[in-house]
Amino acid sequence: MPDEHASQLRVTVFGAGYVGAVSAVVLAALGHDVTCVESAPARLAEWQNGSDPLREPGLDTLRAGSHVRFVREAEDLGSADVILVAVGTPMESDGKPDLTQVTTVANEVAQRAREGAIVLMRSTVPVGTCDSLQRGPLRRQHVVSNPEFLREGHAVRDSLCPDRIVAGGPVEARRTIERLYQRIIEGDVPTSAARRRVPLLWMSARSAELAKYAANGFLATKLSFVNEIANLAEAVHADAGAVLESMSYDPRIGAQFLKPGLGWGGSCFPKDTRALHDIANGSGYEFLVLRAAIEQNERQLERFAAAITSSVTSGGRVALLGLAFKAGTADTRHSPAVALATRLNDAGLKTVAYDPAVRVLSEEPRVAIRDSALDACIGADAIAIATEWPEFGSLDLSALRRVTAGDLLFDGRSMVAARDALRAGFRYRGLAGSGD
Ligand code: UDX
Repeated sequence: MPDEHASQLRVTVFGAGYVGAVSAVVLAALGHDVTCVESAPARLAEWQNGSDPLREPGLDTLRAGSHVRFVREAEDLGSADVILVAVGTPMESDGKPDLTQVTTVANEVAQRAREGAIVLMRSTVPVGTCDSLQRGPLRRQHVVSNPEFLREGHAVRDSLCPDRIVAGGPVEARRTIERLYQRIIEGDVPTSAARRRVPLLWMSARSAELAKYAANGFLATKLSFVNEIANLAEAVHADAGAVLESMSYDPRIGAQFLKPGLGWGGSCFPKDTRALHDIANGSGYEFLVLRAAIEQNERQLERFAAAITSSVTSGGRVALLGLAFKAGTADTRHSPAVALATRLNDAGLKTVAYDPAVRVLSEEPRVAIRDSALDACIGADAIAIATEWPEFGSLDLSALRRVTAGDLLFDGRSMVAARDALRAGFRYRGLAGSGD
């Protein structure tokens, strides 16, 4: 076990993606001795030459004040007090998380880590994974589930000032976890946010693993419900914005995650909701609400796409505003905007896109990308807003109407007031495709 008196711990982080790299920089900024292992040469080179491939706000500043060794091989794994596993668990074609990278790291740790070292599982893994690793390859170490709740675009803040730290595993490991996060728990962190203590919620490994899925599953379900309310409001000619705003005043509902759209996406919600549903199925439990939320999200996108393809003749052109899965990031993994583009192209429409952060789109090569919303709209038969970038809420609609061939505006993120669209000469179409 590490020296009980030293506050600094030797930490090896596996994975330099959103979770791993941010965790590494944050732990180094808190005073720990951190090495971050990245096997992808291109990503490793970016970190080693000082750039930030994530472009996470605040990461560069935090990194300037501390030192993380980004390496290809975990050369000092044998002396690590804590080994943080933050490798990818991407969704396989059957919806299950791919644990290949986790297994590879576990085998390397089993061979080279000290007896009694703490293995911290930050990757989102099915319930029971930590217990299996503890009984199997990592029986000489202590395996602790420590899920993260980072939002892309807010990863540094969500790491330094989390609402809670969730961790679970052998009781012998608890003291070290408290030392690892001591400054966060005490609110003694380098941030402008108001300093406040953060609770460390200690539980069993299985509970900590399920806590992660429960949080993401609930948030996705909340969004599916919000989207249903927005659809219904259109059907009954009510103002969805006013209805949802009224909900925001109830603290039991919460004022966040009330923005309706053409669906939720990203590298987490689609993967985690499917994984949670599989975990339930595998345990013989029928998770009705979650299945409905997943199905509603798929239907939300289909309805929006159908509203466009039924209004624009085949061969027509759609100006797609937004490609990232949400505002504030260039990440297009499981992006509803990209899924929409695929459906429009499959229906014989051309798509010309603009996104403030996305310049290249490998997932859907049929999409032409322009440097401005105005350029993307030139000659377009319709405009479709697909990502909630703030600038799409203050577009010069009259200027866009002067360059479009058609007058349809499909607002997939409730960014534009219908009256403003009408005043600029557009026919406005909301989420469910209805309009004036
Ligand atoms: C999410 C969880 O928020 C985070 O806690 C977890 O650790 C990882 O997954 P992230 O994937 O970065 O974070 O995205 P988030 O900001 O949660 O948005 C997810 C999706 O919901 C996006 O497609 C976004 O456009 C959509 N969304 C979000 C809405 O449609 N409306 C909203 O009001 C908020």
